[in-house]
Amino acid sequence: MAKPGDFLTTYMGEDGVIVTRGEDGRIGVFLNSCSHRGNKICLAEAGNRRRFTCNYHGWTFDAKGDLVGLPQEEIYKKTCPGFDKADLGLRRARVENYKGLVFATFDDDAESLDQFLGDYRWYLDVLLDNDEGGTEFLPGNIKSRMACNWKFPAENFAGDSYHAAWTHNSGAVAMLGVGVGKSNRERSYR
Ligand code: FES
Repeated sequence: MAKPGDFLTTYMGEDGVIVTRGEDGRIGVFLNSCSHRGNKICLAEAGNRRRFTCNYHGWTFDAKGDLVGLPQEEIYKKTCPGFDKADLGLRRARVENYKGLVFATFDDDAESLDQFLGDYRWYLDVLLDNDEGGTEFLPGNIKSRMACNWKFPAENFAGDSYHAAWTHNSGAVAMLGVGVGKSNRERSYR
């Protein structure tokens, strides 16, 4: 998401959102739901666009989530007292970032990101400042759908550190130059 107009779609909780980089370089996060009748606006996972046009009635929003055009606008102006495009943009989230990680909330009264992260920033710094040049996030993602009880993967993330030295060793070697727990030379693969 380096260039103006770059976007991706993802979820905040159960809500689909569009994450965009605007012409001014700033990141915006919007509900992926048309302000007209709630239709899902962006069906792509990622790309580059200056505008998002809803495929239901053609309302069009820019990378800041503002409503910039709609078919038969003159009829709305004549028949809807107080009609103003400025009031009809996409639902916008509050966005802050920490060292390139984007955080967003729809709660206007939520604490600042600084307060929210608190001492957890130390752990992020360990990850993100691992190299002198900082951390670069590569595009793409991996999604897995597991037909299992949700407690199984939750328990794996929360409590099973035993698997890390074996399953994630190649990732550790790629990222840190050394395997998890012991060096590759000590490790025997059978
Ligand atoms: S629901 Fe999007 S334009 Fe009507």
